[in-house]
Amino acid sequence: MSRTIRLAVMGDAHYCNEIPNEHAFIRDAYYRQLFREFFTLDADVHILLGDITHWGHPLEWDFVLRTTSELSKQYDRQFRFILGNHDTLRQSKEDVLRQTDSPRYAVDEFPNLRIVYLDTTKESSYDNWGGLVDEEQLDWLDEMSRSKNQYTIVCGHHPIVQTTAGSDHEMMSIDNSREVLQKLAKLSPEGLYLNGHNHIHSAVNGTDTLPGWTFVQHSAVLSAPVFRRYSVSDEAVHVSSYHADHDLLRQSELFRGLILGYGHTDKAYGTSEMILTTLPRAKD
Ligand SMILES: [Fe+2]
Ligand SMILES: [Fe+2]
Repeated sequence: MSRTIRLAVMGDAHYCNEIPNEHAFIRDAYYRQLFREFFTLDADVHILLGDITHWGHPLEWDFVLRTTSELSKQYDRQFRFILGNHDTLRQSKEDVLRQTDSPRYAVDEFPNLRIVYLDTTKESSYDNWGGLVDEEQLDWLDEMSRSKNQYTIVCGHHPIVQTTAGSDHEMMSIDNSREVLQKLAKLSPEGLYLNGHNHIHSAVNGTDTLPGWTFVQHSAVLSAPVFRRYSVSDEAVHVSSYHADHDLLRQSELFRGLILGYGHTDKAYGTSEMILTTLPRAKD
């Protein structure tokens, strides 16, 4: 029997450099503790779903990269992240990728699982925060589906349209969702699509969009400091929520209102019917 692969996943973090100086200390203390709680979770891969920074400013990336690299080294974690629309507002995507020394999109292959990391962002844009998966990545997904067909988890910052909470609103999903769904169908008959962007915990099965797949949206941690863990075995995918120290929420309330353009919502925790536990795998 192949081994279980465990993922720890965090939604939008929105680390923002541009708040009054007197709040910088509490902000940095908040993020250090948040990231520490995240990296102490036992998992094979730790994933951030984009909008890690609020403006994509080089100084914001400096703090995030320094903190995450220290902690992932300390706890010996494999760390992956994807870009969100906020991550490239103050510099080009190319400059951000150079600064972070990261690929724009990537895949991790395990014996019983494939994890795909997509770039769903457009080039730096203040007035269009919708998502797009470009031709280069669509071709790459096609190529991947020809090589091997196995259980797949796809991570993208933006949701697929008309799936999770808010994804039916303008600029709150991937523009070419229909094309992306066709590629996912070819990758695997069953899988998970994980996203952030809409700041609200939400999960829906793909009965009406892509049967066999489940779509899971992660909250923005400034509004609901909750991580999700996924354990993938040949029999099932177990999903659990990890609530970070409640004091973190109180701390974030001290500065998140000062972040210009941060989309706080009281609905960030989602509703009880959106709680996932076990997704049985199809039998061969
Ligand atoms: Fe966001
Ligand atoms: Fe976003």
